[in-house]
Amino acid sequence: MRVLVIGSGAREHALLLALASDPGVAELFCAPGNAGIASVATVRSVDASSDESVVALATDVAADLVVIGPEVPLVLGVADAVRAAGIACFGPSAAAARIEGSKAFAKDVMAAAGVRTAHSEIVDTPAKLDEALDRFGPNWVVKDDGLAAGKGVVVTTDRAAARDHAAELLENGHPVLLESFLDGPEVSLFCLVDGETVVPLLPAQDHKRVGDNDAGPNTGGMGAYTPLPWLPEGSVDTIVADVVVPVAAELVRRGCGFSGLLYAGLAMGKNGPAVVEFNCRFGDPETQAVLALLDSPLGELLYATATGSLAQQPAPRWRDGAAVTVVLAAEYYPATPRTGDVITGADIDGVLHAGTAQRDDGTIVSAGGRVLSVIGTGADLSAARTEAYGRLASIKLPGSHFRTDIGLGAVEGRITV
Ligand code: GLY
Repeated sequence: MRVLVIGSGAREHALLLALASDPGVAELFCAPGNAGIASVATVRSVDASSDESVVALATDVAADLVVIGPEVPLVLGVADAVRAAGIACFGPSAAAARIEGSKAFAKDVMAAAGVRTAHSEIVDTPAKLDEALDRFGPNWVVKDDGLAAGKGVVVTTDRAAARDHAAELLENGHPVLLESFLDGPEVSLFCLVDGETVVPLLPAQDHKRVGDNDAGPNTGGMGAYTPLPWLPEGSVDTIVADVVVPVAAELVRRGCGFSGLLYAGLAMGKNGPAVVEFNCRFGDPETQAVLALLDSPLGELLYATATGSLAQQPAPRWRDGAAVTVVLAAEYYPATPRTGDVITGADIDGVLHAGTAQRDDGTIVSAGGRVLSVIGTGADLSAARTEAYGRLASIKLPGSHFRTDIGLGAVEGRITV
């Protein structure tokens, strides 16, 4: 099988490495890729948001399967175009991708499916903002109603900060979603979904704030670990039965059945799981940790999902132990990351590239906010952390920063449901 992966982050690097170890995958292509991806796949250029550009490339490389990593092309309908060209595509239709692209649509689906989520209100004009803020908080949860790569979310006990963020979004023409705060540790559960067939992967936890102990602003994700030693037994089955299956069935009922990866972001409260958000694609950085433990052929799973035969696949197998990934971010990330700095010491095992580029002289330089995703695995979370941070210690990038506490709360038994 010839596989084309669309995207350029560490998530796509992780997908490509897992695909490369599937004996059923003969050739790998990635577009637009990055400097690290070039060592596992043939990198081509593409306009990932353009139907014509992705279909032309998929045809040119004779892809048997196209895997679309990021949400923007999915929300724009690129998967529909690839399928219309007769090529199998892992990724939902534009209609189904609204589960991520429109928070109002996601809320409506959850209400119809009887799935627990935060109470919310959309504010679309500054005149309604103050009254609406009075109906919420503290804590205030203020979200961009569109796609914002995680950075459109502010969770704060400070009303003025909540108001400033909402006012800025409205000024830029973005409707604002105000939500009640959901208590409890967060879980990211990725499920392969093919209509009403739902196959969960390992549960993971992201660390969204930029600094240790969850200090500072939200980011696209600073690190993740899997599995979750604190998650009560049976929780994954409960989430699948009470959250993901009803939502998948509701999407089928609406004529926009989901095909691809449905990512349920949940808060594990005292009364059970409640949905924080749905995403229509693999999460970043959780994918880097989850796929490090996958023992089944990934290409086979993705192809079966894309072609409507997921129900006939054996359940995914997982290696014992734990995996951690730690994101190395550029100076000033998440605000205005500096790029163009030289990276050294990264040519070692367990390093996935995100925002990197290669200069003509072969030097690898930073080219984005999240630059590398460094993985460690081990018999338990503590051993996985030791490996990840040991690898990170040998990498040099001027001005860079990373969290030192990825998975630490779980190791120290500080997370309880
Ligand atoms: N881990 C957050 C995201 O992928 O959106």
